[in-house]
Amino acid sequence: MSCKPTLKLVLAALALSVAGGALASTPLKPEEMIKFRKASYNFMAWNMGKIKGSLEGNFNKDEVAKAAAAIATVANSGLGALYAPGTDRDVGGEKTRLKSEFFQEPEKVREIAVNFNTQANEMAKIAATGDAKAIGAQFGKLGESCKACHDRYRVK
Ligand code: HEC
Repeated sequence: MSCKPTLKLVLAALALSVAGGALASTPLKPEEMIKFRKASYNFMAWNMGKIKGSLEGNFNKDEVAKAAAAIATVANSGLGALYAPGTDRDVGGEKTRLKSEFFQEPEKVREIAVNFNTQANEMAKIAATGDAKAIGAQFGKLGESCKACHDRYRVK
């Protein structure tokens, strides 16, 4: 009978979703926020590197499109949740370079973050077209939007 493995799969999926639900409702510790945001930025930097490599070497449309989609997904994932007040200090063995100014000028943070999201989503859209010239131009704008935040809120 083939229903047994199917049932097992369904049960496994249920167990996973229950565990996932529990995970989502557990508040993150400050050190987890720092760890996850650094991981997110490193993951985006890896994908930015792939796009850059493609623009400078043999252009690979699929790799660029996948990298841009990955960056947009991270940008759209709600990174703001990883910035609770107090996470501008090292905690629980996690080091942070976040400047305290981040919590003192929410309007400016919002402007910078919204621009970053806009540029990341635009990058994914343009990357899907495979137009290397347009991709190069948008890559510059996206990079500028990363830098705008670093210049203001990341310790050198
Ligand atoms: C809204 C602000 C903001 C945006 C946008 C942003 N960053 Fe950052 N980035 C930070 C902050 C703040 C840190 C320091 C995080 C910490 O140490 O807690 C950081 C850290 C990093 C790090 C170092 C991570 C580590 O392990 O210390 C890399 C790499 C990085 N960013 C790359 C990027 C790239 C690439 C982009 C754009 C695709 C980007 N960032 C967009 C704010 C931003």
